[in-house]
Amino acid sequence: MWPKDVGIRAMEVYFPAQYVDQAELEQFDGVSAGKYTVGLGQSRMGFCNDREDVNSLCLTVVHRLLDRYSIKPTEIGRLEVGTETIIDKSKSVKSCLMQLFEPSGNTDLEGIDVTNACYGGTAALFNAVSWVESSAWDGRLALVVAADNAVYASGSARPTGGAGAIAMIVGPDAPLVLDRGVRASCMRHAYDFYKPDLRSEYPTVDGKLSIQCYLSSLDTCYQRYCDKAKVKRANHDVSLQDFDAVLFHSPYCKLVQKSFARLAFVDFVNSSKNKTAVNHVDLQKFASIALEDTYFNRDIEKAFMDLSKEDFEKKTKPSLFIANQVGNMYTPSVYSGLVSLLINKPVESLAGNKVGVFSYGSGLASSMYSITVSKDASKDSDLRKLVTNLSYVKAQLEARHKVHPEEYTSILASREKNLHTVPFEPQSSIDNMFPGTYYLVKVDDLFRRTYERTPNFK
Ligand SMILES: CC(C)(COP(=O)(O)OP(=O)(O)OC[C@H]1O[C@@H](n2cnc3c(N)ncnc32)[C@H](O)[C@@H]1OP(=O)(O)O)[C@@H](O)C(=O)NCCC(=O)NCCS
Repeated sequence: MWPKDVGIRAMEVYFPAQYVDQAELEQFDGVSAGKYTVGLGQSRMGFCNDREDVNSLCLTVVHRLLDRYSIKPTEIGRLEVGTETIIDKSKSVKSCLMQLFEPSGNTDLEGIDVTNACYGGTAALFNAVSWVESSAWDGRLALVVAADNAVYASGSARPTGGAGAIAMIVGPDAPLVLDRGVRASCMRHAYDFYKPDLRSEYPTVDGKLSIQCYLSSLDTCYQRYCDKAKVKRANHDVSLQDFDAVLFHSPYCKLVQKSFARLAFVDFVNSSKNKTAVNHVDLQKFASIALEDTYFNRDIEKAFMDLSKEDFEKKTKPSLFIANQVGNMYTPSVYSGLVSLLINKPVESLAGNKVGVFSYGSGLASSMYSITVSKDASKDSDLRKLVTNLSYVKAQLEARHKVHPEEYTSILASREKNLHTVPFEPQSSIDNMFPGTYYLVKVDDLFRRTYERTPNFK
């Protein structure tokens, strides 16, 4: 027998305490006003200075989660990290996190790092769920961590950066249950975004190709998800109407709105084939075009963005709250969507909701799955606790301090210059960091990193 209702029992999100304003960045970059804020749909972009790296991001988010929920390190039996921010080709981030578990004597902790662009967090989550549902499960909780520092070379991709981390507790009897038997994936070989240059933090990006890969993976995953769900629902067709919310990996918020419209378009094509389409005379001309010829079709994009606007505002926009304020956090992005949804809907309205999740990582790996928010009264207090424990998010986003684009640019340049410099001592002040944040103290001449934590968490 599988344990019942395996899913997410607790969540913690962390973003750095500084950001750059996207309207100021437009001016600084000399692009037309509105390109980043309206065209990409981004307001602010979080980033790390030289005090933070992927290890510190993960240490911060895990320690904060354990503290906030009063979970003992010995209660965790699996710890898995999804990241694409590689600072060592051998030593895992997970091994660095063991500093939080060794003092309690817990070194019996399965799991390691998983990497493929922005998809690693989802792979880590699936692994954790599989462990809890397997014969290897020893009854303890699993802990999933996703963290990245997303930075781009100067140019058109730079405003789509971000930084942050998510930690999630996975176990049975969860208030957020991962639905069984409907997961759908699309994995392919593509060079849309990759990081071949180990001397640099910056990726090599083909922006247009990455959008095409994202949208085509979305089509495929959605179609496969719907086919599997249909079988489970005694042959009833599945469409957007079956979801109360749909979450997407968010490279930038405008792409997510287009993606939601894309699903409305796929529904329309499917219903046209089944002869169940609502008779929109204006749309009939799109019914027979092959999906793969439509990724950059402006007429289709506009028609379905208009048609699905109200639904988008209801089902997806609330989940873009953190993405709009922090940017693309890479692996945590889609899970920041889940946090955003939970803190932007009245908790009473969440019970029983069906939440679709689309996770995408360039290269490429993608999946669509769904979460059911438990409506079991006995889980009500767990759901309320999960949501209440995220009540710091809005205040903390506002408490960040704004950095001028010129300083942001020089911080990025200095990170790039010092990437492999040893010995290294960061120069940025720790005064503005949030309580309970880990920061880099030094990298010694053998590349060994030392961290400390700012005081007064809780
Ligand atoms: C996404 C990316 C390709 C955009 O860069 P770009 O080519 O310079 O941007 P565009 O010229 O297409 O402008 C972006 C949008 O802003 C719009 N825009 C431009 N100036 C504008 C203005 N002043 N006011 C309002 N909108 C404006 C454009 O029309 C475009 O909208 P559209 O996508 O609906 O056509 C680039 O940021 C990138 O490579 N990012 C990293 C990769 C990525 O995030 N990929 C996504 C899938 S993983």
